Amino acid sequence: MTMILVTGGAGYIGSHACVALLAAGEDVVVFDNFSNSSPIALQRVQQICGKSLIAVEGDIRDERAIEQVLTQYNCTAVMHFAGLKSVQDSVAEPLEYYDQNVIGSHRLLRAMQRSGVKTMVFSSSATVYGTPKFLPYTEDHPLNPVNPYGRTKLIIEDMLRDQYVSDPSWGIAILRYFNPVGAHESGLIGEDPRGVPNNLVPFVAQVAIGRRERLNIWGADYDTPDGTGVRDYIHVMDLALGHLSALKALDSPKCFSVNLGTGTGSSVLEVVRAFEKACGSTIPYDIKSRRPGDIDAYYAATETASRLMGWTAARSLEAMCADHWRWQSNNPNGYC
Ligand code: NAD
Ligand code: WQD
Repeated sequence: MTMILVTGGAGYIGSHACVALLAAGEDVVVFDNFSNSSPIALQRVQQICGKSLIAVEGDIRDERAIEQVLTQYNCTAVMHFAGLKSVQDSVAEPLEYYDQNVIGSHRLLRAMQRSGVKTMVFSSSATVYGTPKFLPYTEDHPLNPVNPYGRTKLIIEDMLRDQYVSDPSWGIAILRYFNPVGAHESGLIGEDPRGVPNNLVPFVAQVAIGRRERLNIWGADYDTPDGTGVRDYIHVMDLALGHLSALKALDSPKCFSVNLGTGTGSSVLEVVRAFEKACGSTIPYDIKSRRPGDIDAYYAATETASRLMGWTAARSLEAMCADHWRWQSNNPNGYC
């Protein structure tokens, strides 16, 4: 049994990772400033697991506070989810994104170095690849992000790789997520976006529950089988289990980058149909012009995750929609 520091553990993916960690017998201390989450999520995590965790409110840019937590709780590893994640906001407020994501991660790493904690699982994103030169994206696809959010992720990845070169006694797993959706099967935790959701599935779920009237489909003239954008949606619990596998793979020092996706692309219309089946009602939509910055299609090569961590995603698009809907219908207004 070890103590894992989970930054951003109250957020969408972090809360599901906490469930996976607690269920696997690990102890957890969450460090979160709740800027995009609710402490209620952590109560629900404990309810699901029948086990308590420690919650510390703080900002990852506060190096001393992190160092104190790492030392006080004898942490052995860090799962680092904390940060800002909206592509659109990153274009409008790049300095805020560089501050929270890059400087925040730098301070976290320095606190780890000073405390002698050398194991890190980092939330990166498929957005580091940029415009596809080929598909599926393999991990050696060129890294050329096309927005400030993606560039912050690439800078952090580079910082982690440089740190490992300077001190190969570190263990670093860089996990490039594709499109996380769904919720824990209990329906107790899930994604709770503030304001109008940017992402497809949360928006569809809010249409289904009656919080929004219609879905706008951003483009039906893409070079895809039905003309709508294709993405690799992955169930958030598969993603959470991927973090456990990454942690196990770091039982000896190493640094690796892996995609966490299913390897299968689904179009916007396929997602809408799967969600309609899950919720039992029709999702009204309008076809609109393309959203700036969107690309036709992308999906993951999954062999590296399977080879290095023995992990593959197991849950179907139907399960993702059913679980997302259970969360949304049980909690129509999120954690409020
Ligand atoms: P989220 O916003 O739900 O969770 C992030 C958590 O970090 C929140 O609880 C927030 O309060 C906290 N946080 C933000 N800034 C902080 C700071 N400075 N100090 C302390 N806590 C802070 O986001 P998520 O969807 O759970 O994403 C988690 C991570 O995964 C992020 O790093 C994100 O960039 C990455 N990621 C997300 C997706 C996605 O589509 N959700 C895809 C790829 C990568
Ligand atoms: C999926 C598809 C849209 C909303 C983003 C980030 C990426 C990662 C995951 C963090 C696209 C279409 C969407 C809507 C629509 N996040 N769509 N109507 O853009 O693939 O990825 O989230 O790392 O970095 O860029 O996800 O869910 O926004 O869009 O038609 O209201 O759904 O055009 O084809 P995306 P998404």
